[in-house]
Amino acid sequence: MSMSFDFDTIYNRRDSDSLKWSRYRERDVIPMWVADMDFRSPAPILEALYRRVEHGIFGYASVPPELVQVVVARMWERYRWEIDPAWLVWLPGVVPALNVVCQAYGAEGDEVVTFTPVYPPFLSGPPRRGKTLRTIPLWRQDDLYTFDTERFESEITPRSKILLLCNPHNPVGRRYERQEIARIADICLSHDLLICSDEIHCDLVLDGGAHVPTATLGPEVAARTITLMAPSKTFNIPGLNCAFAVIPNAELRTRFKKVREGTVPGTNVLGFTACLAAYRDGEPWRQALIDYLRANKEVLRDFVRREFPGLSMDDVQATYLAWIDVRSLNLPKPARYFEEFGVALFDGKQFGGEGFVRLNFGCPRSLLVEALNRLRLAVQSTGRD
Ligand SMILES: Cc1ncc(COP(=O)(O)O)c(C=O)c1O
Repeated sequence: MSMSFDFDTIYNRRDSDSLKWSRYRERDVIPMWVADMDFRSPAPILEALYRRVEHGIFGYASVPPELVQVVVARMWERYRWEIDPAWLVWLPGVVPALNVVCQAYGAEGDEVVTFTPVYPPFLSGPPRRGKTLRTIPLWRQDDLYTFDTERFESEITPRSKILLLCNPHNPVGRRYERQEIARIADICLSHDLLICSDEIHCDLVLDGGAHVPTATLGPEVAARTITLMAPSKTFNIPGLNCAFAVIPNAELRTRFKKVREGTVPGTNVLGFTACLAAYRDGEPWRQALIDYLRANKEVLRDFVRREFPGLSMDDVQATYLAWIDVRSLNLPKPARYFEEFGVALFDGKQFGGEGFVRLNFGCPRSLLVEALNRLRLAVQSTGRD
């Protein structure tokens, strides 16, 4: 049986309580900033939610046992990672988990290290939780961003306690290879750093390669790694608040749970329902989504190459986010400039990457093309008053 899925229909999200769209309710601006997609979730998720709503009682949630089995099986099938159900800690989001990690381990003033540019909560979390942030810029090799391992190691001090790692990396779209992560993990081992590995985009690999969870590099690495995952990006359900951490080390897990208690709310009962349906029944849709996103990425890259000679964007190996270098335009506030032309992008400055913008291409192709035409006008209009 062949299945077809619709990613082309444009739905009106302006009046749907959407963070991404409500900002521009009264304006003709295509929002491509926040990382959610403009696609409906797959039918099995919607059906599971209808059934759950029909039950009519929405008390405090406990994780469905089948979901635990499905996650354990998934880790084995995809990564040959054998996880114990006891290692799973359920959460309403990955960002709360990043904050719990920053608070739970190390003393006041200890350092949290991360590679920039990076998703803004990696930068705001540590200082909010009493830690000092140390940023190491990614560097470029063969037209791709990668870790500057020498600089990473040389900047580690006795107060460095935690590495926040983003893989696949938002915003640069890298899916790191095993040897790249292995070198980072080795350095963390020899300097006794805990690794918090945010792998929320792991099911959105577009380049056909394999995602390698940090914790699968070996038992020593697993013992110091907290892995964060969620169905939210892939199946477009971030508003349902369901994510999880995998924490093999019992001591780290206890500490994590203690700090979570009382500050982080429980997981959303509908989030559990959606997560189970997504992981159990959403695979055909996910495969089709990957094909669609890959084609969108090609449309975007071709357009940037053809129409914007001074600008550049790397291949997006994973995620539906493009990181575009607009430094040659010399715009003091790039995102604000493009917004005037009807496209809302994230300004790179918030990621620690001034002169760049991040574009979310998780939308119907016709909307992407319309946005690109607006961006062309914007680029052509630079330097003119
Ligand atoms: C790397 C990364 N982590 C976490 C999140 C958001 O996590 P959550 O919505 O589960 O808090 C995002 C969303 O864009 C992200 O890109």
